[in-house]
Amino acid sequence: MHSEIDKSKHAFRRRVLDQAFSEKALADAEGLILENARRWLEYLGADTLESGWTRSRDMNDWCNWLSFDLMGDMTFGRDFGCVTKAEHRFIPDVVLNATKFVYVVRSFLTFTSLASTNLKLVIRQAGFWPFISLVRPLFGTKWASLLMPAGNAKENVAYAKYAGSMMDDRLAAEAEKTTNGGEGANGTTDQAHRRKDFVHYLLHTKDPETGQGLSIHELHADSGLLIHAGSDTTAITLSAALFYLLHNPSVLSRLTGLIRSTFPRIESIRSGPELTSCNYLRACIDETMRMATPVPSHLPREVMAGGIEIDGHYFPAGTVVGVAPWTIHHNAQYYPDPFTFNPDRWIVTEGNEESVRIARAAFCPFGIGSRGCAGKRVAYLELNLVLATLLWTYDMKLADADVDVVKKVKGGAKSRHRDLRDRQDVYQIWDHFVADREGPIVRFKKRQN
Ligand code: HEM
Repeated sequence: MHSEIDKSKHAFRRRVLDQAFSEKALADAEGLILENARRWLEYLGADTLESGWTRSRDMNDWCNWLSFDLMGDMTFGRDFGCVTKAEHRFIPDVVLNATKFVYVVRSFLTFTSLASTNLKLVIRQAGFWPFISLVRPLFGTKWASLLMPAGNAKENVAYAKYAGSMMDDRLAAEAEKTTNGGEGANGTTDQAHRRKDFVHYLLHTKDPETGQGLSIHELHADSGLLIHAGSDTTAITLSAALFYLLHNPSVLSRLTGLIRSTFPRIESIRSGPELTSCNYLRACIDETMRMATPVPSHLPREVMAGGIEIDGHYFPAGTVVGVAPWTIHHNAQYYPDPFTFNPDRWIVTEGNEESVRIARAAFCPFGIGSRGCAGKRVAYLELNLVLATLLWTYDMKLADADVDVVKKVKGGAKSRHRDLRDRQDVYQIWDHFVADREGPIVRFKKRQN
């Protein structure tokens, strides 16, 4: 769907997909989010030393594992098992490497003189996402093995098989349920169906305008899109939030105090008026996405017939245009002192109404308009619930500076942009459509008060 250029075809699929994110669907998703978050917290806190602190955890990995499990569970009614099974933990890397592969190959072909003018034109016209459909068939073939490290190509095949089997199992369960009049194998009520995952909604929803449902091909594509679109983006935000909280102790202490005083028991952390009242939590999440924008680069749009004037410049039809959200989020006109993590810039107090209005108007981590993120409400629900339950349960601190990986993560990357890459207080991200990142490396301890 995301690569669909035809506006009416996109609108049809979007109308169907939007129903998978209705109030009812979100209520179903909430239970799954809390279940997965609690299991993740249990694993995160295991293996403590005598001091009560855990060993160092690379939170880039841990947030990835949680996020992929969540998207698997919400989409197919079955998690990927990344948190609980070491052998499944290659999955997030496969997805990120595939995105990098497409992004790098496309940029290379577009911008080097090796590509003929005609090929460059075809690629530029296609934009980034349509280009994926040209490259995807290469995964798992000898062509991909030539272009990617051998391990990556092999893992791609393993992931494609695994994800395909999840969908096949899900469709088989649905068919069995229909045959058995609502019951799954052995007369048990089908678990996935009872929980009403996104595939359930996609299978049973019709476009309110045309009465049409998705074809099997569209169903495969759009449920796959949910995994890709919803996992890495949320994982980046979670790991970046931990980075910024741990580098800003007064923010961490204020937020932790707020969560613990608002919710007497972990079970009371649910969506509702109490969670909504935690506007400092939402401010920390938005400030994180401003600084570590999960999709930092421009979202390509093609100029339509007649051309367009942007900021005094004329662009003819067919030109691909876009503005990188990361640059908007670091523009000092909208966000004064843009490299400082300051959640208060989102909270209205007397006298700052205009600056909060400007900050909100320029904020665009989810894109804008008819193509904007379909899963924005799910993303906020996940981020709120996971961060709140984590801060409720554990105290946390950065791992000691002598751990090798900590040194690597702490900036100092060789780059033309040394002034930014050297900053120890900025979470370093690398643009590959979604953002690559490392760390932070964190230790946890059950809260003492
Ligand atoms: C912090 C988390 C997230 C961020 C920052 C994010 C950001 C984005 C962005 C920038 C786009 C592209 C918009 C455009 O092209 O204009 C997008 C599209 C999309 N996202 Fe998200 N996303 C997040 C989480 C999720 C989640 C959790 C889901 C699913 C449950 C999801 C599903 C989608 C879908 C289906 C699209 C394609 C929409 C379309 O083509 O109409 N996203 N997202």
